[in-house]
Amino acid sequence: MEISWSFLSWTVLTLSLLIHFLWPKRPRNFPPGPRGWPMIGNMLELSKFPHREMVALKEKYGPVVGLRVGASNIIVILSADVAANFFKNHDAEFADRFVPDVTKCRDFHKGSLSLAPYGTPWRVLRRIGTMEMLVGRRLNVTAPIRRKCVDQMLFQIENEARNLKPIHVPQLLFYTSFNILGNMIFSRNLLDPSCKDVSGLCKAIKGMLELSAVPNLADAYPWLGRLDLQGLRCRMNNALDEAIGIASRFVQERKEERQMRVEQNRPKDFLDVLLDYEGDGKEEPADFSEHTINIFILELFVGGADTTSVTIDWVMSELLCKPECMAKVKDELNRVVGPNNKLEESHIDELHYLQAVVKETLRLHPPVPFLVPRKAIKDTKFMGYDIPKDTEVFVNAWAIGRDEDNWAEPNCFNPERFLGSKMDYKGQHYEFIPFGSGRRMCMGLPLAHRMLHFISGSLLHCFDWELEKSVTRDMMDVEKMRVLTLRKAEDLQVMAKKRTTLKK
Ligand code: HEM
Repeated sequence: MEISWSFLSWTVLTLSLLIHFLWPKRPRNFPPGPRGWPMIGNMLELSKFPHREMVALKEKYGPVVGLRVGASNIIVILSADVAANFFKNHDAEFADRFVPDVTKCRDFHKGSLSLAPYGTPWRVLRRIGTMEMLVGRRLNVTAPIRRKCVDQMLFQIENEARNLKPIHVPQLLFYTSFNILGNMIFSRNLLDPSCKDVSGLCKAIKGMLELSAVPNLADAYPWLGRLDLQGLRCRMNNALDEAIGIASRFVQERKEERQMRVEQNRPKDFLDVLLDYEGDGKEEPADFSEHTINIFILELFVGGADTTSVTIDWVMSELLCKPECMAKVKDELNRVVGPNNKLEESHIDELHYLQAVVKETLRLHPPVPFLVPRKAIKDTKFMGYDIPKDTEVFVNAWAIGRDEDNWAEPNCFNPERFLGSKMDYKGQHYEFIPFGSGRRMCMGLPLAHRMLHFISGSLLHCFDWELEKSVTRDMMDVEKMRVLTLRKAEDLQVMAKKRTTLKK
């Protein structure tokens, strides 16, 4: 009997110690949140559809929820008021980024703008990107490029429609966005089937997007990174080797052309801008390294192709479910553009209903639902809480866009709510922040704005659309996180019928 009492006491003591050490320790005066499990902490709360599941946490713990996952502290922002406070008053303290383990492969994060810590290398790339690549006057010069790519898309749809084939919308949109970026970045037609580098690049970028979205144990326990238990590093290394190899071949060819002073009959592209850069060599680099150029190029594809194409896919899906809205967009296009004319980017400002449709789609389906996570640069006070250095911050733009405190009937698709309203997505209206806000707000917004309206407007103006027979409306509202962006679970397949006799 004595032996078993002592055995029992030791067992209880050992278990208590284990639980004490394995139970995740929340920092003192941290925002409230669920307690979590030993070892894994709140990993389960961040599992399948975290942007949806977090809404329930708001009811219990309030609009700032504190979580602990493995060794990381995380705060989640769930209301427009808290987001406003965060971006207006604490943007600088949280201007670093959380760097996921897979992005350390082949030193991707060291050439990256979106993952760069807040400092000079980030500032230089951001300045070049906003002032020389994505600024309005430069986008005006490159409008014919997007015209050409959209014409290619329309031509392809016309062929399929003639043969009564269903259109695989997500694929079509991804290739179109990818091709627009390829033309703007290095003046290459990325739909050219004769070039094997082109399909290689597309495959590698898709692979990178998919791998970046897999929940990774090494993000919660950095010491597991080297073991690569899920094989993610290995697969990311392969995808990056392929992508960097192709990008650097394109860069080399351009350098040789420049050395031989080959006459170029085209507008200056992003690669020219990067190669022309000359810094002071003191605070700023004298020029960009080959690594930085390659990674920056890949990053524009990663950040721009999927986000844009997924949003247009949702635009089409929502309109197919709401024929009365579809009819209004088409009427507006007929009135503003003319039934036999092509939509041009210069029409966008006059297309108020189409703009409302795009906004309403981004409100309900922001493709990056948690924005790109930020990280605390130092120990900080926020909303009266103590936030330790390196705490990650997730701003739930999806939940904020559907918060009934700010939106009437928040889950209904109702573009009319934006008509006559000044609310836009430029980061000043915190109840609607699909592109984020503050210093690290989306750099590609001016281009995304044009692409979203130009591509979706052209699709709607040139064709009549109906769902493929096997697709029901119920299948359309389901989401899944297949890659980094939030997309539909079922791929949209539709039949198109040519509507207009467009002038060439
Ligand atoms: C519908 C289209 C798009 C959406 C919804 C979107 C959304 C976002 C979001 C939410 C962020 C993080 C903002 C934050 O932390 O506050 C971001 C960052 C970024 N986006 Fe976009 N994006 C889109 C298109 C594009 C395009 C077309 C490009 C470029 C070709 C691009 C390039 C970037 C870059 C470089 C960053 C990092 C900025 C930084 O860290 O300073 N995005 N985007």
